[in-house]
Amino acid sequence: MNDWFTTIDGIATRVWGRLVQAANERALIGFATVSPTGDPEARTVVLRAADRDAGVLEVYTDLQSDKITSLRAHSQASVLLWDEDLKLQIRAKCTVTIQTGADVMDRWGDIPDHSRLSYGITPPPGQIIAHSKAYTKAPDPEVFAVLSCTVTHLDAVHLGRPHRRAAFTRDPASNKGEWTANWLAP
Ligand SMILES: Cc1cc2nc3c(=O)[nH]c(=O)nc-3n(C[C@H](O)[C@H](O)[C@H](O)COP(=O)(O)O)c2cc1C
Repeated sequence: MNDWFTTIDGIATRVWGRLVQAANERALIGFATVSPTGDPEARTVVLRAADRDAGVLEVYTDLQSDKITSLRAHSQASVLLWDEDLKLQIRAKCTVTIQTGADVMDRWGDIPDHSRLSYGITPPPGQIIAHSKAYTKAPDPEVFAVLSCTVTHLDAVHLGRPHRRAAFTRDPASNKGEWTANWLAP
């Protein structure tokens, strides 16, 4: 549909379609959290899964990384994606559940050996080291974590003519998880 951005349902469908595509392509997204002291912190991560029906996005990380400390203090995160071809910015506010151990061993099993090296670094990520190579990597399923991000708010901006902006809000715990959609001034 070429004019997907003219209807609010069209935007919702395109936004979720784009997130699913990004997950299939292992695309990079911005992932922002709030530190225990209230500081904003953003970083690049790979989007691993997107499920419209469940309203959930997935990211993999190291359980020892600082973002875990932040998410334990404040479970909210913000996801950012810009698609130059579609002229579409997607922002998602999420409530994050940290999954580890037996719950995530199916995902661990699907990760290629060379990629498993991203989970299991000594000393832990973010620690001061004596020189740039003073660390070792060994895959460790014990520190592999899946961030299950339940989307509560989506904000989509389409930079067409005219610019259009739509917001989608959902409380998974009430109203049967229905989305409320509104056009916003861009
Ligand atoms: C291209 C790229 C992809 C990355 N993918 C991930 C990822 O999927 N998960 C992750 O935890 N960190 C990933 N990182 C590293 C993070 O950006 C970040 O440096 C690291 O997770 C430590 O962040 P923290 O100290 O805020 O927890 C990636 C970095 C780059 C440059």
